[in-house]
Amino acid sequence: MILVTGGTGYIGSHTCVALAQSGHDLLILDNLCNSRADVVDRLEMLCGKRPVFVKGDVRDAALLANIFAQYRITAVMHFAGFKAVGESIEMPLAYYDNNVNGTLELLAAMRRANLRTFVFSSSATVYSDPDGVPLREDSPRSASNPYGRSKLIIEDILADLHRAEPDWRIARLRYFNPVGAHESALIGEDPQGNPNNLMPFVAQVAIGQREFLNIWGNDFATPDGTGRRDYLHVVDLAKGHIAALDYLNLQGGMLTVNLGTGRGYSVLEVVKAFERASGCVIPYKVGTRRPGDIAQYWADPSLAYELLGWKYRRGLDQMCRDAWRWQQQCDKRGTSD
Ligand code: NAD
Ligand code: WQD
Repeated sequence: MILVTGGTGYIGSHTCVALAQSGHDLLILDNLCNSRADVVDRLEMLCGKRPVFVKGDVRDAALLANIFAQYRITAVMHFAGFKAVGESIEMPLAYYDNNVNGTLELLAAMRRANLRTFVFSSSATVYSDPDGVPLREDSPRSASNPYGRSKLIIEDILADLHRAEPDWRIARLRYFNPVGAHESALIGEDPQGNPNNLMPFVAQVAIGQREFLNIWGNDFATPDGTGRRDYLHVVDLAKGHIAALDYLNLQGGMLTVNLGTGRGYSVLEVVKAFERASGCVIPYKVGTRRPGDIAQYWADPSLAYELLGWKYRRGLDQMCRDAWRWQQQCDKRGTSD
């Protein structure tokens, strides 16, 4: 059985489906600070079996000890954490506590339970302001905000742990920009308040929940002047976790890989693709740059292919179609609640 922390969240829930499809039993630990309990019902429909769900916090050592004593957990996938860059600048202590302490508590509890297979959600945010795209796993790293620094610190903690105790099997997966939703529209990203990220914002404009998209700058050194990113379908990302777990079970060791497509799309290209997918016009205004934004970055995903045989399959049009289907479903649910 796999322990999935943060398993009712956006990426965790999609990974639960992929894990179940690969024959794994699941135990989800989530405190629901950024997700809803009814995701478990939807996962039951998608997985064909109800995951065990424990509402609780990864920083609760007694709870973790109970879980490890009660269930035969063989590996941990750790998604639980906070993820908003702007909020992390306002609340650094909360971010370090939840992300860094949360991971430390989990690792300590795993060690006590003699369990040593760990898959961690890292991020492309660990790369320094990237002059040299595509970004490779050995590209320079640094952080410009507490969220990014929490990922950097955890990556370093995991490297130190593996150096000291080489029997740990650890994957540090650096996600690029996850978007889209499961094609069933039963699970997806459900941001509270103003979405921080581009795709959910565009989807809310398309459905008429927001008047227009603010494009944060069109004076970057990119072909159309807007920022370019490596958007990755969340279902492809989820499958990357299965490939990483299989690799760890077979090879052991310490794995650090990018999960991205290897190509960048500009904000304007995303807007056009979403218009095609939804049949809606997306009004936008061009504003000033968002502080800290960089012009462009995308992954070199070749190591993930070489080591894991993993490669993205779903292109931008499908990402937008699935995000749109999910947005329409959220809209219906919102009006019927
Ligand atoms: P999410 O907020 O949708 O999911 C995180 C889940 O963890 C939520 O369900 C939340 O309720 C839960 N959680 C948070 N703190 C907890 C705690 N202390 N104990 C138990 N549960 C807790 O976020 P997501 O987009 O699915 O991201 C998952 C992971 O991937 C995060 O670690 C994030 O930093 C990382 N990541 C996300 C992105 C992205 O763009 N979404 C990119 C790179 C990396
Ligand atoms: C994409 C592009 C914006 C919103 C962030 C985090 C990063 C990672 C993923 C976790 C940029 C532009 C956006 C809007 C816009 N998360 N944009 N108007 O900035 O690559 O990464 O999320 O690890 O840490 O920094 O993604 O979706 O916010 O922005 O013009 O309303 O869209 O300027 O060019 P980003 P994003």
